[in-house]
Amino acid sequence: MDSKIKTLNDKIALSKLGGGQARIDKQHQKKKLTARERVLYLLDEGSFEEIGALVTHRTKDFGMENQKFYGDGVVTGYGTVDGRLIYVFAQDFTVFGGSLSETHAEKICKIMDMAVNVGAPIIGLNDSGGARIQEGVRSLGGYADIFYRNVQASGVIPQISAIMGPCAGGAVYSPAMTDFTIMVQDTSYMFVTGPNVVKTVTNEEVTSEELGGASVHSTKSGVAHKTSSNDIECLEDVKTLLSYLPQSNREKPEDLDFELNDEIRESLSDIVPDNPNKPYDMHQVIEGIIDEDSFYEIHKDYAENIIVGFARLGGKSIGIVANQPMFLAGVLGVKSSKKAARFVRFCDCFNIPLLVLEDVPGFLPGTDQEWNGIIVHGAKLLYAFSEATVPRVTVITRKAYGGAYDVMNSKHIGADMNFAWPKAEIAVMGAKGAAEIIFKREISSADDKEAKWKEKEAEYAELFANPYSAAERGFVDEVILPKNTRRKLIKAFSMLKDKEVNRPKRKHGNIPL
Ligand code: HXC
Repeated sequence: MDSKIKTLNDKIALSKLGGGQARIDKQHQKKKLTARERVLYLLDEGSFEEIGALVTHRTKDFGMENQKFYGDGVVTGYGTVDGRLIYVFAQDFTVFGGSLSETHAEKICKIMDMAVNVGAPIIGLNDSGGARIQEGVRSLGGYADIFYRNVQASGVIPQISAIMGPCAGGAVYSPAMTDFTIMVQDTSYMFVTGPNVVKTVTNEEVTSEELGGASVHSTKSGVAHKTSSNDIECLEDVKTLLSYLPQSNREKPEDLDFELNDEIRESLSDIVPDNPNKPYDMHQVIEGIIDEDSFYEIHKDYAENIIVGFARLGGKSIGIVANQPMFLAGVLGVKSSKKAARFVRFCDCFNIPLLVLEDVPGFLPGTDQEWNGIIVHGAKLLYAFSEATVPRVTVITRKAYGGAYDVMNSKHIGADMNFAWPKAEIAVMGAKGAAEIIFKREISSADDKEAKWKEKEAEYAELFANPYSAAERGFVDEVILPKNTRRKLIKAFSMLKDKEVNRPKRKHGNIPL
């Protein structure tokens, strides 16, 4: 063989070997795929084109000049997922623990720039010991170069982070600024300071898993949007998520083939109980409305009183925000407001229409909520809906009480269509509480207080615990039978598909963060 070709082949072979077979074996023993295996699994077969396979670091300190690995701890390039272009970087834990050097950062920045210029999603597969300790501030600079690009890319191209190993220190802020973070159960963790620092500073004894494992971040902090049980499931999750998204903010998500039939769904008729205080599972309503098995839930185990996720309706990709009466009666709280607000803003960035399913008794009362800023967090959701210009449709399945009625995509804040089911109750508050306040004197002076209260409650309910007062004013466009909901929604979203709204020019709004 020509010696020059042999040189090239040797270099490529070395690059493919990352930190060497022993470290690859160690990675496998931990039930983790290597960076290269992950990329190849994620992308369509034969589609991966690597960029920068022969990059090495430039450090000479600490004997580093004698330890060079082609690729420098990150595999970068582009390929396709279901035929659509995506850019990907995968940190290679077998090379200096996937730690981030100046050149490692440059490789990531290079494909981020391409992704933004071309208009295609970027996927980051994170598995890293953080800043390359031997490089000091050059590594910190590399991180900041990435953070800066995360922000410039935000709202321009979808950015998805998979956390498939350690992700610690300031390194967590790149995933945090991307649109979605998916963590692998048991093998990944994220924290700003690790257990040792925590012990020194606060005297708390905590394991990495307890401090920042996938379960913690998908239930308590909300940092993770999804948890997968292993690497393969995680990569499948990334692919599924991508299927609902457009390539960039210049496009709309791709429609699947669909033909309108009768679309009547009798199953929707019996979900809401007659007793307004009885819970029901809003997932049943979602399943009854959307195309079969198309719901992809985000933040499933976090703030479960609100459900958010992507689905297909008549072949179109939509985002769903739905109160969940099964948890805390579906109230809006600090966490649920933040969860929904971020989702609404994502959908609005990427031209994904929004469907809101509403059954909300109001905001959660109490010192815990007030002291944790329900005012400012609730305002986030109000702001997010109010600024969204995508097609927006609401179905009030039961309660729409108080300020929460306004917030949950009411017509007053720019929703295009509001439907209500016949059992809807649209009022300032529940009839019982309302009667107690406005008929206080009459009730307390009555001989039979209980009977008077009931009578006044019924009077209030008659007037307001229904959708008709709102429908008479046009706040509700139509009161519909539950079984017709799917058909009505498909037609409404189809009618709205070319909606365009132009807002006054400004630098950016000032969402209450
Ligand atoms: C250079 C590193 C490294 C790092 C790991 N390695 N982290 N090299 N810089 N940050 C190397 C190890 O020397 C080792 O090399 C190989 O990677 C695998 O590491 P192990 O420790 O053997 O693996 P494991 O036991 O699985 O432990 C993984 C780990 C641990 C928990 C990530 O390596 C660790 O604690 N690393 C340091 C983490 C850290 O403090 N990073 C800096 C955080 S500050 P060999 O040659 O033996 O294979 C930070 C600031 C970012 O990141 C700020 C951005 C704004």
